[in-house]
Parts: sequence; C-alpha cells; structure tokens
Amino acid sequence: MGTKGDLLIIDDEIEVLNTLKRVFEKDYELHITQNPKEAFKIMEKFNIGVVLCDHRMPEMNGTEFFVKVREMYPNAIRILITGYSQISDLIISVNQGRIFSYITKPWNLGDLKNTIKEAFNENALILENSSLLESLKKSNQRLKLEIEERRQIEEKALRLASIVESTEDGIMGLALDGIIIDWNRGAECIYGYTEAEILGESVIKLIPEGKYDEFQEMIGNISQGMPMTHYETIRQRKNGETINVYLTVSPIKDHAGKVIGASKIVNDVTAQKKLEKEMVRMDQMTLVGEMAASIGHEVRNPMTTVRGFLQLFKEHKDPAKYSEYIPLMISELDRANSIITEFLSISQTKKVELAQQNLNDIIERILPLVQVDAINEEKTIKLELETIPDLLLNHKEIRQVILNLAKNGLEAMAKGGCLIIKTSLVDKEVILAIQDEGKGIKPEIMKRLGTPFITTKEKGTGLGLAVCFGIAARHKAEIIAVTSPQGSTFFMKFPLVGVI
Ligand SMILES: Nc1ncnc2c1ncn2[C@@H]1O[C@H](COP(=O)(O)OP(=O)(O)O)[C@@H](O)[C@H]1O
Ligand SMILES: [Mg+2]
Repeated sequence: MGTKGDLLIIDDEIEVLNTLKRVFEKDYELHITQNPKEAFKIMEKFNIGVVLCDHRMPEMNGTEFFVKVREMYPNAIRILITGYSQISDLIISVNQGRIFSYITKPWNLGDLKNTIKEAFNENALILENSSLLESLKKSNQRLKLEIEERRQIEEKALRLASIVESTEDGIMGLALDGIIIDWNRGAECIYGYTEAEILGESVIKLIPEGKYDEFQEMIGNISQGMPMTHYETIRQRKNGETINVYLTVSPIKDHAGKVIGASKIVNDVTAQKKLEKEMVRMDQMTLVGEMAASIGHEVRNPMTTVRGFLQLFKEHKDPAKYSEYIPLMISELDRANSIITEFLSISQTKKVELAQQNLNDIIERILPLVQVDAINEEKTIKLELETIPDLLLNHKEIRQVILNLAKNGLEAMAKGGCLIIKTSLVDKEVILAIQDEGKGIKPEIMKRLGTPFITTKEKGTGLGLAVCFGIAARHKAEIIAVTSPQGSTFFMKFPLVGVI
C-alpha cells in the first residue's frame, strides 16, 4: 500500500468509471473495473481500503457483491451507489453487507468526496484497532504462558519445600561467609536450634573448635564450585553435645554460574556409630571369653595330669619308683608353657627388634628343622628361592612363621606330599609362599582364619595361624591364604619401604 489509500470502484458503465477516475485518481491509488469478478482479483492483489460499487450490474448486483466482500475482506469499507427506488435492496446491503454509506445517483461530488474521505478514516481506524487487537491478543497469550510457567515453578518450589521440610536429614543454606540463611526441621532436630534462633548466625556455631580449619577448607572448595559428598565429621549441638555426621555440601550458583552460597545436607550418624562401636566391643568380648575358656582348658589339662602324679608321689613312700613318669610330667608342663607363650605372642602391641637381613638366609637355616618333621612323615620339602633384597626382620619371629606355616602344610598332606617354600620379588614386595598338596582349608575355617583357638585337629591348639598374623602385623606384612581341594598356599607379603 502506498501513502495514498487504495480505492476500488466498480461500475458496469464505463463513462461513470471514467468520470470517477478523473475525480479521484489524484488523491487515491485508484483501481477501476466494470466486473465484480475482476474486482475480487484486484482485492486479492491490493490492500483495498474503500470499495465503491454500483448497485445495478448485470452479473452480480452490488448487494450480493458486498455480502461477499464483507466475508472475505471485512476491513474494506463498503460504499454503495444506488437509486432511491431500490430501497429494499438497500436494506439487505445495510444489514448483510454492512455498508458504511450509500450514495444516491445523481450524486453531489462534494458529498461523494467527503464520504470517501470518511470511509478511509474509518478504514484507518479499523486497521489500527485490529492491529491493536492483534498485539493485545499476542501479549495476552504471552502472559498466559508466563502465568502457567510461574504456576508450575511455584508448584515445584512448593513441592520441593515440603520435601525439604519433611525430611529427617538436616538441610541448610549458607551464604559464602558462612551465615545460615535456610534451616529445615531436620536441622532443628539434629542441632537443637530453632529456625528463629539460627537464621543470620554463622555456621561456626555448629562446629566444634578443633574442626574450624576443616571448615575453612570446605568453604574454599565450595567457592571454586567443588561439591563434597558423604564427608564424615563432628558437629556440635546447642546443648554442647558433639555428634557424628555425614555432610554433603554443594555450591549454590546464580544464573551466571557464579557460586553465591552452599547447601548442606546433614545426616546424624551418632547412634549408628555408637552401635558400631558396641558391636566391635561385643565381638571382642566374645573373643576374649572364648580365648579365656580355651586357655583355661589347655592349661588345666596338663596341670591336672601333673597334680595327679604329684598326689601319687605323696601317698607313696618311694617316689623314685615313679620316676619314669617324670618326663611325661615335664612334657605336660612344657605344653602348658608353650600355649601361654604362643598366646602372648599373638598380642600385636608387643615390641620386637627388627634387623636388616635376608629372608632366604633365615629359611635356609631353619630348613633342617622342618625337614626332620617331613622325613618322619615321608614327605618332601622343596626350596625355590629367588634373589631378594634384605628386609627389616626379627629372625626369631620369622622362623616361627615359617615353622607354623610349614607345619600346617605338612599336617594337611598325605604321605608322599611335597611342600614348596618359595621367595620372590614382585612389585616392590618380597613374597614368601608356602605351598602344600593338602586337601584345602574348610570354608568355615577360611572365614575366621587367624582367630585363636580355631582348630580342626585333635591335638591342635588353634594358635599357629594367630601367631603368624600377629608377627605379620608387627612386620607390616600381610598374610593371604589361597586354597583349593588340590592344596593351599600361604603368601606372606613384605613391603620394601623402610629398608635401605
Ligand atoms: N595348609 C593348610 N591346609 C589345610 N588347612 C589348614 C592349613 N593351615 C591351616 N589350616 C586350618 O586352620 C586351622 C588352624 O590352624 P592353626 O592356627 O595353625 O592351628 P592348628 O594347626 O593348631 O589347628 C587348622 O586346624 C586347619 O583346619
Ligand atoms: Mg598349626
């Protein structure tokens, strides 16, 4: 559309059209046609503001034409040119075609000009209104969307808030300077402060003195955006009690991704910790009880024997007659003594002197002792010793380990079995391996390997492995057993650290 309004004039009489053309072509962008069908083509192409149409035309009269125009181009202002005689048609035009005005023939040019001008004003008004309406509709739509979005956000926030409020975990929000800005009921239960008491206070209030440094470090991490999960530490309640807690701390970021605070989830595990400690204590108590019973039994047996003999001696005038029993008595006392000695050596706190020496030397020196047992039982011993570096060892204790493990291995095998004692250096560890061809270790024993007084042997003490584990701990070494129905291997791994 140009700056001038588009005016369309339809009349079947060419002279009328020409006259009107001359009058209006100056002021308007003028389109003329004799044919209403042609008129629709023009309207399709141009933004016609005002349509002036004769009523009486051969193909379609003005009234019918305007009913269509109104339907298709409701913004185009319609003016009908008509004679007085056609009043009934005029009524239809006004009612159904909603014409803006009608001009009667013959017309007064001034009136016609005015009417057309007014029609264009009307058109401008309508256009303005409809564009206003359009933008109103659009902003209305936007508003509706926004309201819906907000409602959803609000709903979500409410939902989250009710989760936060109802959870047993303590949840709090902190500013970067450690000031508490959010506090849920869970936190209230854990720490004993109400929301009113704690908001605006520093989180330092909840931290026992010794843990300040740790807190600073945590805040440092958080300001760099690093979260911390499942951090175990100690906190302080309002009444001064300390509690064990697990913390999960996450940075809170603003829209730009800048860290502006931290959220903290606190899990009170004090009760759990107490229970754990209690369980360990109970376990130890049962163990001590079991051990006491076993020692009592083991030591009481030889004592009873010896006491029986001594009573016999006392009742007879000639004790020399019984001297043949003396070696038995001594051996019984020795057994009691050795049980007590072994039992004492289980204690891991015992201090031992360590000296730099080679494990292979110790093995070679003790070999004859092990060999005696083996030969008696028609079994063989094989050594596979690689070159290994020196270690810090207590040779008496290492001898004891080798003897105990070798003895167990020999005892596990039938006649003809072969026991291999190996040493090697693997990944900065010296490894001693004692491998037998026995039937393997029973699963129930495997589970409690090294627990004192666990034995499957009639004359066993169940102390051999416990002693080995104690010695390993004092040498910072580790004992691992691997077993199968074809035999078992006990590995003792010595770390190389601390050796020059
Ligand atoms: N090399 C092995 N093969 C099979 N079982 C073993 C072996 N070493 C240890 N065991 C099992 O572990 C138990 C405990 O061993 P230990 O502490 O030396 O006590 P004891 O030899 O006096 O029974 C043994 O009774 C046996 O059942
Ligand atoms: Mg043994």
